[in-house]
Amino acid sequence: MERTLVIVKPDAFEKGATGKIIDRFLSEGFRIVALKLFRFTTEQAKGFYIVHKDRPFYRELVEFMTSGPVVAMVLEGEDAIRRVREIIGPTDSEEARRVAPNSIRALFGTDKGKNAVHASDSVESAQYEIPFIFSRLEMVE
Ligand code: PPS
Repeated sequence: MERTLVIVKPDAFEKGATGKIIDRFLSEGFRIVALKLFRFTTEQAKGFYIVHKDRPFYRELVEFMTSGPVVAMVLEGEDAIRRVREIIGPTDSEEARRVAPNSIRALFGTDKGKNAVHASDSVESAQYEIPFIFSRLEMVE
């Protein structure tokens, strides 16, 4: 069993897609072990995305992720990190609509920045991201 972090980003939360996105993960067989609604501060978003600090889109990404509430969850399942990345589709929602039309980013995202969801891309990133957002007390065993 593996755990991964998913965030419903401000664009998808704003359009009321949170329920549909959660339902999709449940119907794919994942178990929710933690869940919360909150709004990132600038410092928190910078820390969460520290791996991208030298990328040209860093500032835009931090501004977007602090622009409204998000819903974060920890999903558990076999091969969860890889399978969740497959279900959400490519980073760019326009590309997702071409190559993976049933993916979450194809259905609910707009472009490379406003792409509806974030998901951990490796074991290392999940190990950084899960405790960044959730304490042990906020996760069910
Ligand atoms: S990587 O590391 O090369 O795979 O980077 P990538 O997947 O392309 O993007 C990493 C995260 O940065 C976001 N992103 C952007 N945000 C705003 N503006 C622009 N132009 C932009 N390009 C990429 C992208 O949505 C990824 O966010 P997460 O939350 O990790 O999915």
